[in-house]
Amino acid sequence: MLQQNTRLFSFVAGKSGRWQITQSTAVVGEPLPPAARLEIIEGPPPAAGSVWTLSGVTSNERYVNREEKIQLVGKQASLGRPQATHGAVIPIRKNARWWGLTQQERREIFEERSHHTAIGLKYLPAIARRLHHCRDLAIPQSFDFITLFDFAKADSNAFDDLLAALRTTEEWKYIDREVDIRMIKE
Ligand code: HEM
Repeated sequence: MLQQNTRLFSFVAGKSGRWQITQSTAVVGEPLPPAARLEIIEGPPPAAGSVWTLSGVTSNERYVNREEKIQLVGKQASLGRPQATHGAVIPIRKNARWWGLTQQERREIFEERSHHTAIGLKYLPAIARRLHHCRDLAIPQSFDFITLFDFAKADSNAFDDLLAALRTTEEWKYIDREVDIRMIKE
């Protein structure tokens, strides 16, 4: 039997879960069905009982260079800090044009022209994040990435500013589905 990948996480929306979903907005493309709560679990989703589930694996970095990595590691915080009562899950799909580019062309758009890491770094350590990749799972997924963030209530506006900045970039022109799910932990 194949062994379970320990980097697999599932996002399970339904009636129960630690996070209360306060808003779910389709920024581009199809929305996700409305649900009251979200649980984030290690491993595959349960077989039944959810409104929707998404799965993805954490992975190695694709784009960051050494200098950026040093800056990220020096500044970033882990998810789950007690004051981080506010969260966002933003699943994203990029179009076929993006996936048809070479790694180097994607890096140029992602960083040299869109400054994704440079923009994001300004918001650390207030915003903690984890990126999950979905394209290489055995079962085809409806998104390419699931992004997860948590932050203190006082940093909610900063998170909105960060998203506004990223959404004006060249990188975002390649996104053909994005759902912005906001949540709070009681
Ligand atoms: C909190 C500040 C943020 C920082 C420091 C940051 C940093 C990064 C870095 C370094 C990568 C590339 C990892 C690699 O080399 O493979 C990345 C990828 C990504 N980030 Fe962010 N990010 C931030 C916020 C956001 C936000 C708000 C979004 C919006 C949903 C987002 C969406 C993504 C996506 C979709 C990818 C994957 C891109 C791809 O591989 O094509 N990030 N981020």
